[in-house]
Amino acid sequence: PMPAEGAVPRSLDDLRLAANACRACPIGALATQAVCGEGPPQPAHMLVGEQPGDLEDLEGRPFVGPAGQLLDQAMAHLGWPRDAVYLANAVKHFKYELRGKRRIHKTAAQREAEACAGWLAHEIALVRPRALVALGATAARALLGRAVAVQSERGTWLRERSDGLPVFVTLHPSALLRLPDDQRADAWARWLADLVLARQRPE
Ligand code: SF4
Ligand code: URA
Repeated sequence: PMPAEGAVPRSLDDLRLAANACRACPIGALATQAVCGEGPPQPAHMLVGEQPGDLEDLEGRPFVGPAGQLLDQAMAHLGWPRDAVYLANAVKHFKYELRGKRRIHKTAAQREAEACAGWLAHEIALVRPRALVALGATAARALLGRAVAVQSERGTWLRERSDGLPVFVTLHPSALLRLPDDQRADAWARWLADLVLARQRPE
């Protein structure tokens, strides 16, 4: 598949317009709109999720649905203001399957994430974060350019990117939402511990 092409966006507004019009993979035509990230320029951290969900697709903002609420809870618990970080996604359009009238999230295929990688790269270059936090395997792969086993590589800073930006890998909040009740408390505590380390940053 071809990566997203065209002129290099010179601003985040350019990026939003160009990603919204992108049809480099099949997801674009089915979604309401592309959802690019939001947050301050040159933040200490850019957090990267997988793709917008149902509510994000309708509102045009990242992490406003159930996964975003869990992320909000975790950050509030740590005293880490959400507006201190830039929140983005690896894939810009919502992928879903219709079940009756409900749109059920479908994980983006690897070729779709690859097609979208150019937009994420442009977003990183425009936002200029000092560190990257991958929430889940899709983001980790998009940021590191290789398959990542989240459970074994979570919790440390990886320095593999050619632009020098350190990458911290942890779970996606949706992974916590899917856990059976008896595993939630432990997983929540471990996730918070990861986020404490991510917030501290290397050096
Ligand atoms: Fe383009 Fe990404 Fe949307 Fe696919 S998901 S159409 S690559 S912006
Ligand atoms: N999950 C994500 O990965 N990103 C969002 O924006 C919402 C849910």
